[in-house]
This record gives sequence, structure tokens and C-alpha cells, in this order.
Amino acid sequence: MYKWSIEDPAGFWSGIASQFYWKEKWGKQVFSENIDVTKGDVKIEWFKGGITNICYNCLDRNVEIGNGGKIAIYWEGNESNIDGSLTYSELLQKVCQLANYLKDAGIKKGDAVVIYLPMLMELPIAMLACARIGAIHSVVFAGFSAESLAQRIMDCKPKAVITCNAVKRGPKVLHLKDIVDAALSQSAENGISIDVCLTYENQSAMMRGDTKWHQGRDIWWQDVVPKYPMTCEVEWVDAEDPLFLLYTSGSTGKPKGVLHTTGGYMLYTATTFKYAFDYKPSDVYWCTADCGWITGHSYITYGPMLNGATVVVFEGAPTYPDAGRCWDIVDKYKVTLFYTAPTLIRSLMRAGDEYVTRYSRKSLRVLGSVGEPINPSAWRWFFNVVGDSRCPISDTWWQTETGGFMITPLPGGWPQKPGSATFPFFGVQPAIVDEKGVELQGECSGYLCLKHSWPGVFRTLYGDHERYETTYFKPFPGYYFSGDGCSRDKDGYYWLTGRVDDVINVSGHRIGTAEVESALVSHPQCSEAAVVGVEHEVKGQGIYAFVTLADGVPYSEELRKSLILTVRKQIGAFAAPDKIHWAPGLPKTRSGKIMRRILRKIASKQLDELGDISTLADPSVIDQLITLTDC
Ligand code: WT7
Repeated sequence: MYKWSIEDPAGFWSGIASQFYWKEKWGKQVFSENIDVTKGDVKIEWFKGGITNICYNCLDRNVEIGNGGKIAIYWEGNESNIDGSLTYSELLQKVCQLANYLKDAGIKKGDAVVIYLPMLMELPIAMLACARIGAIHSVVFAGFSAESLAQRIMDCKPKAVITCNAVKRGPKVLHLKDIVDAALSQSAENGISIDVCLTYENQSAMMRGDTKWHQGRDIWWQDVVPKYPMTCEVEWVDAEDPLFLLYTSGSTGKPKGVLHTTGGYMLYTATTFKYAFDYKPSDVYWCTADCGWITGHSYITYGPMLNGATVVVFEGAPTYPDAGRCWDIVDKYKVTLFYTAPTLIRSLMRAGDEYVTRYSRKSLRVLGSVGEPINPSAWRWFFNVVGDSRCPISDTWWQTETGGFMITPLPGGWPQKPGSATFPFFGVQPAIVDEKGVELQGECSGYLCLKHSWPGVFRTLYGDHERYETTYFKPFPGYYFSGDGCSRDKDGYYWLTGRVDDVINVSGHRIGTAEVESALVSHPQCSEAAVVGVEHEVKGQGIYAFVTLADGVPYSEELRKSLILTVRKQIGAFAAPDKIHWAPGLPKTRSGKIMRRILRKIASKQLDELGDISTLADPSVIDQLITLTDC
């Protein structure tokens, strides 16, 4: 199949496309691409002219082929005694009711809708309802701060925001509606006002009476949505019409709105899901990610549902009430396919094997990992302890931009090597290049690029096609540049080595160093900041911030806390620095560029490996930094 997919991508992918429902078939050309900036604008199209709808393919099609009674979602609440489920028919009805409401509220094809919801069933319902009416959803992870949410709202100018009043995660109640209120007033001050804020009353966390309310703008989901009909006409869209926007971090401060379109993304998520997890109709699949990230888009909502799979949606924290919760859920729903991130594996590994072995886990069949390179010891623990040495591990390398898996094992297809994502998926042609952009052959290491497009690749950065070209296609002309380092061993296996740009990967969450820096310098007592990633036992990478204070401001524990709080408030708790290192000055070149290479060495205490410091404008800052290491 791989050989076929490379030799005849049009034939290969149209064969797969014909397994889906198309209102009208695509034009003569299956795909057209220009990814070479030297030959003009970057443009990628797959199945242009084909008319379809991804919600129809996820729901109606499954009901029509007799799967209406099959469970689509098992929902597990934060507390294990609160749960629920929906069959495919029931899910379709709920999606139609919301779609009808949204249409009535004036939302049309091509309008954006921001969704700020935790892992309730209403989150995939809201995504699917938008897709059904051709609206573009932009899900913002409900751990982002009001400021980050406002920034995204101001960028995509949605017609409506969908949220809930509160959520319980572990022992804590989080008041999401307050965050939305703050974000909406901030965006209104900047001229973007939102007319509709549909709010789900999440009674397991908080009753509606305790929620602050803006008459006229805010509407309780439960008061309006259930009144609408349970069927809703589908808005048929072109394969190249936008499906969603998802903001992700880059190496500058402003988040990038990654735009995915409908047709190619549909085939790609469905096919990667099917093969990388060896999906069978009897499987019960659980992915521990949140729908606020790409993993939840492609591998909680779309990929699995396009296959008619039964999906577990979990509201809570995976270590609440204790480190055995995941295996409790696996046994409760007889989960067969379990997909998670190395950071969670490492934290469960530290908690001890007895939390795992206490549960049977005999339903498990295939395990998956995503988000960052999985270190071989975590891989072995996952394989031996969690999977009782019988479940293959799919270590899936991909990105928000790629839409779906790019380098991944196919379970049982070939021997595994702990820590390697193994080989490219169908249609994917990796290239490892050197700094000059020359493709390396055989055993080598360098920058990971991709040749040619594939159906699931993103088509642009929302409102900024130039940044799209500059970031991804200009560094190595003729290729898509991933931003990752990679090596290939003598057997042809790929080994991802982490980001080579100014992006840090904290617990599988991508954070731009520039974003954290701009949050820090917004603090009145901070004059300059430089952020680097350091190795972290559980999170993979931790955030290490060098901070220069305004003249005359003394260092204090209180100030350290207040700087961290500023980052939490501006970005979200997951971006809080692990370490603040007071810096009387930062190492800069004569042209004023901060030398992060040196800061990375200082942060990881590799002081004898600082390298060439002769290009620094003021080499004495290094000594000052080293003596202040422990502050
Ligand atoms: C970056 C993409 C794709 C969903 C989760 C994160 C890193 C992701 C792996 C893996 C090594 C990985 C890369 C990539 N990454 N999966 N299996 N092995 N590294 O999505 O936020 O778009 O981040 O995550 O560095 O570039 P994202």
C-alpha cells in the first residue's frame, strides 16, 4: 500500500475517498500542489470540486449503514459515579438540534464559531454541529487564560462563542464562564463584540444560579437547544472549504491560526486512525487528550467517528482520585485502544506499578503515544507494565499542521524499536536535510522535512498566507519544514529528536518562547526576559526563564511568584515557568540578538560547554549569570 500511495497518490487516495459519501464527485484533478516557493505561491488542493460534509460522513452515514444503535461516546465525568453515553443516532439528533439553533442564531456557512468547552459530550457535539452547517469551528483549549482566548476571538472574529459555566477537574472547580466574560469584554474594548454566548449548564460542577449573566448576549444551552428539531439539513461544502481553525504556537509571539479544509482532512484522519490503531468495529477507543488540541480534533472527534468507532470522552484529570484512574476507566469500558502522551506515562510510572497492576487491563490491544519523543524507559514501562508485554505501541509523530499521523508504526506490521516512530504513513515522503537544504541519504541526522503534499496537510495560516510560506516552505525551498530534528538509523527507522526552533514542548503542549517572554515583560518590574526549554523528568521539557528586572528593583520571592502568576494569567497555567533565573544582563550579539544557545547551556548546567562566546557584545554577563544560578 505504501508503494502504491507514493507511485500513484491520485489513484491511491481517490480509492479511499470513494468509501465516503460525496454529494458530487471531485473534478478531474485529484490534487494540485505547489509547495516550492521558488515557483510561486504555495497552494495545495485535494479533491477540489468534490461536494461533501464531514458531519454527514461521521454520523448520518454510520446510522444509514445500520450503526445507529452503536455507542458513539461513553462519557466519564470527573467523578467516577457520574457518566453517560450516546449512540450514533442519539448523537446525530443532538448535533442536529444544536445545528438548527446555530442556524437560527444567524450563523451561516463560512462564519467562525469559537468553542471554549471542557471534555463534555457537548464539545464534540458543538464541533460536529458547526461542521454540519459549514461554519468554521475554532476550539480554544479550556485551560487558556482570558487574554489568550480574547486574542483568538479578535483574530477570527466569531459570530458566536460556545462555553459552559464551570467544570470540575480533580478536586478543583474552574469557573470557565468568568474567563469567557473577561475575554469578551476585552475583545469588545477592541471593537470585536460577540452577540451570542451559548452557555451549557454543567450541573456536576456548578448550578446556573451562581453564574454571572449578560442579558441579551448569554443564553443557556439547555433552555434553547432541546426545543429544536432533531433533524437538520446538511450544508454541502466543497472539499476545499474550511472545516476548522486551530491556534498553535510558533516562534514569534502571535499564535498561528492553522486552517484545515474538509475533504482531504476527512480521508486522512479516517485512514490514519484505521491503520495506525488497527481499528476493528468491536474496539472501544480512548484518547486522553483534550479536544482543545489537534489530537482531540483528529483522534477523538473526526478520525474515530468517520470509522463509526466507540470513543471514550473523559472530563477529569487522569490522576484523580488517584494514579489508577486510567486503568479503572480502561476496565470499566473495556477499552481496547488506548492513546496517550509520554508526559502522562512518566507521571504514572513514578506513582508506582501497583496502581496499574491492581486493574485487569485485559481488554487492551493497541497502545499509542503522541506529543513528544517517548524516551525508551517510558516506552518499556508502557509496553511491559501497562500492556503486559502484549500490546504493540504506535508512537505517532505528527503536528497540528499535518492534520494526522505522518510517521507511525502499523501495529504488528514491523518490529518496534522503543523510542522510534518507525516509518512514514501512506503517502508520506520524509526527507532529512542538512542546514543548506540538501537531502541526506541513508543513516543520517538533520532537519525533518516532507516532500509533496498529503490530503491532511493545512492549507494556510488564517489571514496570513505569507507567514505560512515563510515559516514552513521558505527555510528549505521545495520542502515542507516541520521544525523538528530527526535521525534515520541503518534500518531506515526515524527517530525524532525534538524542536529545532524557538518552540518548547511542555507535557506535549507546544509553547512559543516568545509568548512566555512577552507575558513576562508585560510585568511592570520586568525589563527583559529570555526563555529556553530544559529537560524535565515528567513534562519532557520545562520552561526556564531568564529575567532582567527594571532598574533598582530588588530580587524577591514575592516578585518571582508574581512573574509566574503573570504568565499563568496571560497564557494559562500550563505555560507557567518552572524556574526564574535572575539575570542582571542577557548574552547578546553586537547586533542585539539574544544568544539562546548559551542560555540553554546555562539552564541545563552544562557550563563547560558554553562554546564560542567571543561574538558577545559583553562577555561579562556570562559570569554574572553563572554566579546567580541558584537564585
Ligand atoms: C510537535 C507538534 C500532534 C499532536 C500533539 C502535538 C512533537 C508530536 C511526537 C512524537 C516526537 C513528537 C514534535 C512536533 N511531537 N508527536 N510521536 N515523537 N515528537 O501537536 O502541538 O502541533 O506539536 O510535537 O516536536 O513538531 P503540536
